[in-house]
Amino acid sequence: MLILIDDADLTKIEGFFAKYPYDGVTTNPTILSKTGNPDPMDQLKKIRAIMPEGTDLHAQVISTETDDMVREAEHMVEVLGKEHMYIKVPVTANGLKAISILSKKGINVTATAIYGVMPAFMAAKAGAKFLAPYVNRLDVLGYDGVGLAIDIHTAVKAAGYEAEVLGASFKNSQQVLDMAKAGIGSVTIGSDALEKLAYNGIAEEAVKVFINDFEGCCGEGKTMLDFN
Ligand code: E4P
Repeated sequence: MLILIDDADLTKIEGFFAKYPYDGVTTNPTILSKTGNPDPMDQLKKIRAIMPEGTDLHAQVISTETDDMVREAEHMVEVLGKEHMYIKVPVTANGLKAISILSKKGINVTATAIYGVMPAFMAAKAGAKFLAPYVNRLDVLGYDGVGLAIDIHTAVKAAGYEAEVLGASFKNSQQVLDMAKAGIGSVTIGSDALEKLAYNGIAEEAVKVFINDFEGCCGEGKTMLDFN
């Protein structure tokens, strides 16, 4: 399962990549706005510059008319490159048309803002490479976000489409784990949930006991390096 960082903050992104080989970065207009940089393309270039080679960057168009979305997407790949670049297009009626046009032009598309199985299915049919259902936002509305993501995965795989679900909008590790158990291809996780993803507090305590016992026998501050 691909795990991407859903953030645009350079320090956080750099910190996450330093700790673990994540598979890429996703942004949306809100996430970019939180950086305070009024030049989003400058921010995206800076993000790209600190991302390890071969990792994927996803960034969203702002326009709402099909032709404008297509123009914006083309401009984005011109500036940011086509390789490992995914243009996020919300699955509105106009967006669906743009997904089809962009995919035919060989531009990688991530269909986003997905709140239903059928819109996702149609985006996959239109050629989107990733389908981003908003898991937690669905949960907040009283729908089963994980269940919907799994239904999308099942339907798209049954039809033999290339698209992978890119689960988005997570607030806790359980939601991510449920996606993993269902064989979902990828997830993008915001900083707060990402920090806690592999939290293993009991292990930290166990390690303290190991060290205490070891030092009691072998001497304070000693490690295996001190013995031949
Ligand atoms: C990713 O495609 C979405 O833009 C993002 O995950 C939404 O997350 P949020 O619901 O935490 O804003």
